[in-house]
Amino acid sequence: MAGLESHYSARDIEARILAAVRAAGLNPEQGLSPEELGALDHFHTGGLGASRELLELAQIRAEDRVLDIGAGLAGPARLLASALGCRVDCLEMSSDYCAAAVLLNRLTGLDERIEVHQGSALKLPFPNFSFDAVWMQNVGMNIADKQTLYAEIYRVLKPGGRFAFQEMVAGEAATAYFPLPWATEPADSCLVSAEEMRSVLAESGFIPELFEDTSDAHLSKTAAGAAASALSLAVFVDNLAEKAGNARRSLQEGQIRLVRGVFRVK
Ligand SMILES: C[S@@+](CC[C@H](N)C(=O)[O-])C[C@H]1O[C@@H](n2cnc3c(N)ncnc32)[C@H](O)[C@@H]1O
Repeated sequence: MAGLESHYSARDIEARILAAVRAAGLNPEQGLSPEELGALDHFHTGGLGASRELLELAQIRAEDRVLDIGAGLAGPARLLASALGCRVDCLEMSSDYCAAAVLLNRLTGLDERIEVHQGSALKLPFPNFSFDAVWMQNVGMNIADKQTLYAEIYRVLKPGGRFAFQEMVAGEAATAYFPLPWATEPADSCLVSAEEMRSVLAESGFIPELFEDTSDAHLSKTAAGAAASALSLAVFVDNLAEKAGNARRSLQEGQIRLVRGVFRVK
């Protein structure tokens, strides 16, 4: 998880989140909307906008039960639960992020629809055929064992279920600029090429509905060095500007690519 872990304890993260929410002019005691928190809790490339686009593509329905793997602070889970009304289970390795996710679920009044579980993506604590959809954004980049990861996702999906994701993948040259948001040093980064990702997904039994490279679209949509605001990932990620700058440069130079996909279980 190097690069992703916060230097702050759960209590510190919670205090920093509450201070940032107040500094942004919001009152945490009066109910927050998931959109208001969007700059803070969508911990992936493209932020809230990228989650909204994936939501459109994934075709998740209100009656679906959804699993968000590597859920972080559960921003995407709150978007899903509030926009669609579906029930979401969050699976997150870091107990500190789990605690912050539970706090934010409560402050947005979505704790009835979202359950947070601490655990590993490589050993999902759910029975076979539990979910209609699995959601995953910027998580596989830290997981070397893609075969087990995709086999686990396939196992917990119901027949016909969908896996919607976005990830960084390896580009044409080795990644040269560190730290990156997901890796302090090369050994922490577990990127495979888009072709390899597709082929492991196919070997796991998944059928592609959509698989696209959104690198250029992302670069043209987002400006370098976005304006600082009280609500930002910097509340819990250290050296954010340097990490984000390195990711952008790596993307511009083709060392990494951003992909997203929707795959279906037979
Ligand atoms: C970049 S963050 C993305 C968080 C969230 N998906 C989002 O987009 O807001 C990656 C998250 O994946 C979690 N993670 C990494 N490896 C994991 C694993 N093997 N099992 C469960 N969670 C993992 C990290 O703790 C971190 O919270």
